[in-house]
Amino acid sequence: VKRYRIAVIPGDGVGKEVIPAGQRVLEAAVAGHAELAWTVLPWGSDYYRQTGAMMPPDGLEILRGFDAIYLGAVGDPPHVPDHVTLWGLLLPIRKAFDLYVNVRPIKLLPGLQGPLRNKGPEHIDMVFVRENTEGEYAGAGGRVHVGTPHEVALETAVFSRFNVERVVRYTFELARTRRKRLTSITKSNAQQHAMVFWDAVVAEVARDYPDVEVTSLLVDAAAALMVRAPERFDVAVGSNLFADILTDLGGALMGSLGLPPSANLAYNPRLPSLFEPVHGSAPDIAGRGLANPIATVWAGAMMLDHLGETEAANRIMTAIEALTAEGNVLTPDLGGTATTDQVAGRIIELL
Ligand code: NAD
Ligand code: IPM
Ligand code: MN
Repeated sequence: VKRYRIAVIPGDGVGKEVIPAGQRVLEAAVAGHAELAWTVLPWGSDYYRQTGAMMPPDGLEILRGFDAIYLGAVGDPPHVPDHVTLWGLLLPIRKAFDLYVNVRPIKLLPGLQGPLRNKGPEHIDMVFVRENTEGEYAGAGGRVHVGTPHEVALETAVFSRFNVERVVRYTFELARTRRKRLTSITKSNAQQHAMVFWDAVVAEVARDYPDVEVTSLLVDAAAALMVRAPERFDVAVGSNLFADILTDLGGALMGSLGLPPSANLAYNPRLPSLFEPVHGSAPDIAGRGLANPIATVWAGAMMLDHLGETEAANRIMTAIEALTAEGNVLTPDLGGTATTDQVAGRIIELL
């Protein structure tokens, strides 16, 4: 029996509800085949209130030894400022372990009605690959003349060749496993340095993939096209910020932000990758059993697949699709009346 050591960070808000639900489903899926050795780390905003930090000073060293990280959500507005919580926990993990791509499937599940008329599961099936360690989230910048009328704040986006190239290459490889259509999303008309550079890297890498059809879109037009003709998208690659925004739009196209998952993959396979829902801590519904656990369960399936437990991962996906196709055990975001735990329980029955 294989044993996997998994660090669990439920975090804040609905993270504390969807993560236990996800753990139950994963346990059931691997039962008899593999052992999941969970270490639950109580890091987040409560930890911050007690200690003054979101995680212990050696938090990253603690995480380094695990096979994977399973994270709920981070953020406790308005009690702790968002930049404090996110730069205290999630963003340092992405950077420290060089989690270079953030893979986010956007797919309309069977039985669910998204907000788009005449668009079904055959039209909404794409994967976003988000640059995950630099770009607009590089953390470069600062403020001068603070509090004066002359104050200036800079947030400098950083794009390095090594990084852009490996993210783009990952996306081309992914396209080869799917419909072989890649969309690169930039803003090269306005951002004349970094985005023109990004386009050039895409064109260079594309020479190694003559079988993949490449489309370049400006991010504003891409947002409109996702709504107007989502079937044009197969795999899409974008910067940290652009792909962040477009994957929330993608969640909306799926019918709820409680659905899309994400895999933050380590470039060095000896470092832990991180798996989490796309959504945040949802303070507006937290603590009431209303949160949809599907995004977190799906992220867990991506984690099992990453660890090599592909069969268990596939069974979870089949069970999620059976659940949405049935349509009678769903949380309120999808028009149902079931609780987080009832949805997890039904997925387990369907496994
Ligand atoms: P959010 O994703 O938490 O919520 C947006 C909307 O989606 C809300 O109406 C919420 O109720 C709904 N929603 C989200 N998850 C849901 C689920 N599982 N089931 C049903 N409905 C769900 O985004 P926000 O409100 O902008 O952010 C709240 C906090 O979360 C902020 O602190 C933000 O910084 C943080 N955040 C963290 C992460 C992360 O940890 N990866 C991601 C996004 C936002
Ligand atoms: C996400 C979140 C984070 C991001 C925030 C909370 C920093 O929105 O994972 O999509 O933008 O990366
Ligand atoms: Mn986001």
